[in-house]
Amino acid sequence: MINAAILGYGTVGAGVFGVLKMNSAAIARRAGDEIRVKYVLDLREFPGDPAAEVLTHDYKDILDDPEVSIVVETMGGLKPAYDFTKQALLAGKNVCTSNKELVAEYGVELLTIAREHSVNYLFEASCGGGIPIIRTFNSSLTAEEIDAVTGILNGTTNYILTKMRVDGQDFGDALKEAQERGYAEKHPEADVEGWDACRKIAILSSLAYGNHVSYKEIPTEGITNIEKADIAYAEALGMRVKLLAVSRRNEKGVWALVAPMLVAKSNMLYYVDDVLNAVFVHGNALGDAMFYGSGAGSLPTASAVAGDVVDCARHLHKTIRSDWSPKKAELLPPDGVCRSFFVRFSGSEAEARDIFGNVKPIRTLGASGEFGFVTEVMSEKNFHEKCSGSGKVIKSIRIA
Ligand code: HSE
Repeated sequence: MINAAILGYGTVGAGVFGVLKMNSAAIARRAGDEIRVKYVLDLREFPGDPAAEVLTHDYKDILDDPEVSIVVETMGGLKPAYDFTKQALLAGKNVCTSNKELVAEYGVELLTIAREHSVNYLFEASCGGGIPIIRTFNSSLTAEEIDAVTGILNGTTNYILTKMRVDGQDFGDALKEAQERGYAEKHPEADVEGWDACRKIAILSSLAYGNHVSYKEIPTEGITNIEKADIAYAEALGMRVKLLAVSRRNEKGVWALVAPMLVAKSNMLYYVDDVLNAVFVHGNALGDAMFYGSGAGSLPTASAVAGDVVDCARHLHKTIRSDWSPKKAELLPPDGVCRSFFVRFSGSEAEARDIFGNVKPIRTLGASGEFGFVTEVMSEKNFHEKCSGSGKVIKSIRIA
């Protein structure tokens, strides 16, 4: 019997408790032993819930119990999750988590501590919900030189953008629905401002390129400025608005960016709707691969955490390797990246051409007094200089 403890009985913690119970036979078969949840830690009471029988309010019960070899951290946030995780690893316990905030901030340190104590710090659920992408980087793609990762990495914002497009819902109503479905963060600014996607692309890029990518250095824009008019313009262009998290590695270094972008039908990410996530990876031998699936929600996330629990059970006292070195990747600004831009402009077509050169008008749409167009390919720097000089750009969105 292998004993586990779950820290935090919220959306994900309760999901892990449920998955470990629901699939206990398959899990025991694959882990090679039965896995029992000996404790659930939470400040609240849960009368009538099966977790009530194993509930504790004191972390010391778990930390001091030599029978507990796997700790599942589903509290979220940095405090007290960081201290609890560190204490568990130092005590020789494995830790599995869905906490992307903690992994992005302290992952490299916690991985080092885990290695030094021959245990594991696993975080499959931190990126892409139920999509097995971290394990893919850590095992299947270990023979690759990866040079590009592009993802729809936040289920809440993808759900909101889909509802705005398909059902004509307002941003606020769609967000409320995402919260009710258990997709959104406790503070949904993390979703809608792009911070959650930013942390996830930092984690994936660190694993893909080997050096530590700090999320604090990634330029990040969310979807709070996206209006129905933008979505209608995108449709007129045969495109969709998606919150993309992008990173690239070339001979000069690494750059990364999180921003809403217009995605064309020729790009598979165009078809990723609702709460689904996808991660597009390019490697020098592999070429392209896309990983697609449920990006948020209690059970898909719990499935990934429970898979980590099984992996820990299979590797007790042995650290599974991952390629995330403490050496910092120097992040380049994306100034030199070249692309086209969609622009809503308060001047005439002639004025737009004066400033931006050749532009492709979107004639079928537009509120009165504005003109929508697509620019030719130019660098981010060049585009932003033209915009700030013009004084007539209402809004611009990158084209992926
Ligand atoms: N709030 C996150 C999302 C949860 O919507 O993607 C999964 O990490």
